Amino acid sequence: MEMNGIQFDTYLKNYPDKDGFFGKYGGCYISEDLKQAMAEITEAYFTICKSRRFISELRRIRAEFQGRPTPISHLERLSASLGNVQLYAKREDLNHTGAHKLNHCMGEALLAKYMGKKKVIAETGAGQHGVALATAAAYFGLECDIYMGSVDIKKQAPNVARMKILGARVIEVTEGLATLKEAVDAAFAAYSREYKDCIYCIGSVLGPHPFPMMVREFQSVVGIEAREQFTSMTGELPDAVVACVGGGSNAAGMFAGFLNDPVEIYGVEPLGRGPKLGDHAASLKYGTEGIMHGFNSLMLKDENGEPAPVYSVASGLDYPSSGPEHAFLHDIGRVKYDVVDDEETIEAFYALSRLEGIIPAIESAHAVAYAMKLAKKMGRGSVLINLSGRGDKDMDYILERYGIHE
Ligand SMILES: Cc1ncc(COP(=O)(O)O)c(C=O)c1O
Repeated sequence: MEMNGIQFDTYLKNYPDKDGFFGKYGGCYISEDLKQAMAEITEAYFTICKSRRFISELRRIRAEFQGRPTPISHLERLSASLGNVQLYAKREDLNHTGAHKLNHCMGEALLAKYMGKKKVIAETGAGQHGVALATAAAYFGLECDIYMGSVDIKKQAPNVARMKILGARVIEVTEGLATLKEAVDAAFAAYSREYKDCIYCIGSVLGPHPFPMMVREFQSVVGIEAREQFTSMTGELPDAVVACVGGGSNAAGMFAGFLNDPVEIYGVEPLGRGPKLGDHAASLKYGTEGIMHGFNSLMLKDENGEPAPVYSVASGLDYPSSGPEHAFLHDIGRVKYDVVDDEETIEAFYALSRLEGIIPAIESAHAVAYAMKLAKKMGRGSVLINLSGRGDKDMDYILERYGIHE
């Protein structure tokens, strides 16, 4: 498949380029010391992660520890409630620890072990990446520091407890809005001090090269499995694939399986309370080009050109930028990025719970909400949703803020 001069049969090999660029997006905009550390990780990625030994160890871990492949479920009752379109879900909520995040954490931590590092550090928003990395650190015997905003610590209490039980140190970040962006700031600052002994295992397809590439590669297991499973279940490809986009890791992994196919691809961003700056976190829809956290992408900016305050009901989606690959796929038109708001998300959260017996993460409920709207618009065909995680972490918050729907 070809679009705007981009050949998708060779896309995953050619993008990013050797300097980490997807077109004009991506790159490595950090201090010289850290550039050195990133060059070391890039080198290790191409030698260690591409070795037969690493690949077979990761495959074994995926099967024996993570429980992969995760299944695809046909959402029959939800589909019937909407009309003739058939909805399906790739069940990353059934991946060990309850979300897709473990896919890249096991890869990153295995790389850290091969590189002889003693410690991994990361930021977390919803706590899913923090739990996944704490799990990987326990599995490989590494120390683990997780930076988390105080707002998210309160909102995602069950995940904070899980990280601590797994032996990680959870470091509270109180600056600014005390959510995901500030947690990334703090984790970067810690990494600048400690980079010789540790790896900063970034929680999404974000940050300086090689992370957007590396995280996509580790997550692409989702798209590769899903394509095979869907075609063997139904005899054809889905008409559309849908995933929510915070930083963009679950979406990048899922999309990687379908970019070269005649399949419509949709990334769903959080519209939160509405389109006013500060009320949402839809950086691909409303952002402009800008550099933060070491990479160039589309970014929501305030009047001074700094990252704007953002909001979403989902702690894992409220980040003022998105991975550079998404900005690229947006610009060339291969993926359509659209939004759903908090209210539509909560409706979908309840619909999936009540009609299918699956309680989704609030992040994933954004993809479900969009797929439900799409199904009504399409009239017939099939939609595959990446159900990126389960909603256990969100129970207290949903009950407190929205109560039980009648
Ligand atoms: C379940 C779940 N889905 C999606 C996301 C968003 O991250 P990404 O866009 O990198 O997949 C998160 C982030 O914490 C999450 O926990």
